[in-house]
Amino acid sequence: MTESLVTVAYIGATILFILSLGGLSHPESARRGNLFGIIGMTIAVLATVFGPRVTPAGWSWIVGALVVGGAIGLYAARTVKMTQMPELVALMHSLVGLAACLVGFASYVDTSTVFPTAAEKAIHEVEIYVGILIGAITFSGSLIAFGKLSGKIGGKPLLLPARHWINLLGLLVVIWFGREFLRAEGIAAGMTPLIVMTVVALLFGIHMVMAIGGADMPVVVSMLNSYSGWAAAATGFMLSNDLLIVTGALVGSSGAILSYIMCRAMNRNFISVIAGGFGSGGGAPAASSGAAAQPAGEVVAVSAADTAEQLREAKNVIIVPGYGMAVAQAQHTVFEITKLLREKGVNVRFGIHPVAGRMPGHMNVLLAEAKVPYDVVLEMDEINGDFPDTDVAMVIGANDIVNPAAQDDPTSPIAGMPVLEVWKARTSIVMKRSMASGYAGVDNPLFYKDNNRMLFGDAKKMLDEVLAALRA
Ligand code: TAP
Repeated sequence: MTESLVTVAYIGATILFILSLGGLSHPESARRGNLFGIIGMTIAVLATVFGPRVTPAGWSWIVGALVVGGAIGLYAARTVKMTQMPELVALMHSLVGLAACLVGFASYVDTSTVFPTAAEKAIHEVEIYVGILIGAITFSGSLIAFGKLSGKIGGKPLLLPARHWINLLGLLVVIWFGREFLRAEGIAAGMTPLIVMTVVALLFGIHMVMAIGGADMPVVVSMLNSYSGWAAAATGFMLSNDLLIVTGALVGSSGAILSYIMCRAMNRNFISVIAGGFGSGGGAPAASSGAAAQPAGEVVAVSAADTAEQLREAKNVIIVPGYGMAVAQAQHTVFEITKLLREKGVNVRFGIHPVAGRMPGHMNVLLAEAKVPYDVVLEMDEINGDFPDTDVAMVIGANDIVNPAAQDDPTSPIAGMPVLEVWKARTSIVMKRSMASGYAGVDNPLFYKDNNRMLFGDAKKMLDEVLAALRA
């Protein structure tokens, strides 16, 4: 392939990536968006492999890497459960960061490129330094995020004394060694500042994510997504590959926008989230997820038959799905119940919290998979005002996103986070297996309210029973 043909292919791939991002912005067009992304990526890989910068001698390496990487990706895609997706994504981000570091070091020791001027050499070295810096932070930060999301590391924020000073010191060290790196004569001399900076960046990545509380993880995941994009863009600069620069910038900026949306959804300040400590502020630190909540009153349990009765008699029902619906894979039964009630003239709608589940759009994906019509699936802001006119609010495996403490208790780790106000409905029914807390590890006063009922059990099993009672 000639250079100009490669350029045309890269422009085509870039357009497909932009269309892909556009498609992913809505569940209805997400499938098409994914397809555009797959085609764009295939074109990009083929144009790069068969382009003039890869000699046939290198093909065997590339094919070998493609087979190994493709096989691991295929295995992961087939075996990873939907609820483990955020962990997988965090691991993938770490690989992008690692790749940026490796490419950075390889570019530095590669002496085959001759720079006509000292300025061009300096620019290349700045690209290497910044690329490795972002890559190392992304790599270690994503590994810690993986540990936290998979429960291998506790969700409690690690708040070292003087942590902001430690971060500032790290920044000064990075700037100082950057100067040393640019002034170094020869590769051997430049290697020391480069390695010191890499170690500092790795430690900073660990410290940054360790300091962030469990409830803040949605912002961290999207932030690391953004970092991985900038790491890829930096790799593109090092390799002088325009497509990698553009693609990295697309991922970086869309991840940054997503982080902003997440912060707004959780009523958090982006800077204070990154600086760490949010979710612990004046409040008690979050316990690890799943811990038994402190009892704070009596709860009233109901049976599946009672629940069916209440639903049958209701005019307006709002269903609030959460992480537990994903774990139980109850979305298909939810759809069956929705269909049946709508046929009986009950106005059934869904209220979706922006951070319900464990990844952005988690609930929308599950409901779309179960063929729930999009027009009854509403965002939190669209539906929150309707709870006072609702007969039954049915909470399926959700906890933090319906916790009134976020509004009432300024010392709560989730204080200030907007929540779905299900307690304002005539009756709320919470479906979960026990009194255990959710991801943020905080007790939920909703369970003890007079108009709240608890339907204990696995969401799928309970909903099957509700469906059977409705059909009877
Ligand atoms: P959670 O607050 O985590 O609550 C889920 C509840 O589901 C648990 O209390 C659990 O109680 C119940 N559950 C688990 N398995 C179940 C099953 N098989 N059947 C029935 N219930 C089951 O979830 P949420 O309300 O969706 O809130 C999301 C939380 O995750 C937020 O704190 C958010 O910040 C965090 N988070 C979100 C994201 C994104 S981007 N969405 C990413 C990372 C973290 P039992 O054990 O008693 O059943």
